[in-house]
Amino acid sequence: MKKCIIYCFSGTGNTNRICKMILSELSQYDYDGEIFAITYEAYKTKQFPNPNDYDLIGVAYPGHAFNAPQLFNKFVKLLPKAERGQQAFIIKSSGEPFSVNNSSSNAVKRYLKKKGYNFTYEKHYLMPYNIMFRYPEGLAKQMYLYAFEMAKCSAKKIVSGEKECLKSNIASLIMCFLGKIEWFGAWFNGFLFKVNKRKCIDCGLCAKNCPAQNITKKKGKYHFGGHCTLCCRCTMNCPKDAISMGLLNGLRVNGAYKFEKLAADESVSGNYVNAKTKGYYKNFSKYYDKIDAELVACGLTPPRINFAPDEYAIMTKKQKKAYKKRRDKDGKTNG
Ligand SMILES: Cc1cc2nc3c(=O)[nH]c(=O)nc-3n(C[C@H](O)[C@H](O)[C@H](O)COP(=O)(O)O)c2cc1C
Ligand code: SF4
Ligand code: SF4
Repeated sequence: MKKCIIYCFSGTGNTNRICKMILSELSQYDYDGEIFAITYEAYKTKQFPNPNDYDLIGVAYPGHAFNAPQLFNKFVKLLPKAERGQQAFIIKSSGEPFSVNNSSSNAVKRYLKKKGYNFTYEKHYLMPYNIMFRYPEGLAKQMYLYAFEMAKCSAKKIVSGEKECLKSNIASLIMCFLGKIEWFGAWFNGFLFKVNKRKCIDCGLCAKNCPAQNITKKKGKYHFGGHCTLCCRCTMNCPKDAISMGLLNGLRVNGAYKFEKLAADESVSGNYVNAKTKGYYKNFSKYYDKIDAELVACGLTPPRINFAPDEYAIMTKKQKKAYKKRRDKDGKTNG
């Protein structure tokens, strides 16, 4: 059996979920996989599993302001040189499907290549926002169901060594450059986090789970230090919504998405983004159309389409269009 490790930074669990799905699929190809959770502690102490003990290396992160989180980039920079030119892949999750996010892995790709890793594959998984605003349940379910199918495709492509990578464009390069201000902003804004004493039940979850070891309790009060990565884990998971996020408090999303529960709940449609979708989410359709085609090419069935993949694969462009129109007739219209 071959060994795979994914070094993953995940604030609120979206990226971690995807890594688990991919590892589960890789096990079908005889890979024994594990996830190493990147923390400030691991970065500071340089205590982490050596990638040279593994045959396949993954790195995974959530998109933060058109970039990877600073802690993630700094951690990847610490990885030692690849002694056997091991294959490496990148997984990222982010809340928007737009190509303006496409340059976020550029620095990491450079580090990996410089250290002699054979970088072959980068995939962007669309998952709900953990900041800005809460995505509707139907969309969260759709994203989760898609991630499951996409993970099968990712595993297949990773194992085959097929090259796939997000393409930078001028807009993504500019936004990636400008977005780095978030690294400073996260540090500065981190000092402005506060716990509302009247709401707090002193459960200690925020301090225990902060991946940056940034929350400490002194004299009965919670303090936020200078290592915040703005991952939103503390604010999202506080059972009393007692943590305010400084200057970004208006963008707070409290309460984790209940993906597994949503997936099992038949009353929630997983066909949220469809041909009839209007408003902001209409822009997500192109992403799912592309993923649908990719899944079909991989011999899989896209979650929002009920047809045999073979049947779809042999349709002409016109037939596919007509099919989708028919399929979405019963779909939900979203505003
Ligand atoms: C500080 C911050 C900045 C973000 N910036 C972006 C962004 O530029 N583009 C995007 O699509 N999503 C952005 N997101 C949303 C996350 O990438 C998305 O919710 C991701 O799935 C979270 O993954 P996690 O649960 O593993 O942390 C941002 C989230 C945070 C907390
Ligand atoms: S998670 Fe919320 S309720 Fe629990 S200690 Fe932190 S602030 Fe208080
Ligand atoms: S303080 Fe909160 S937002 Fe900042 S790194 Fe810790 S858990 Fe994440």
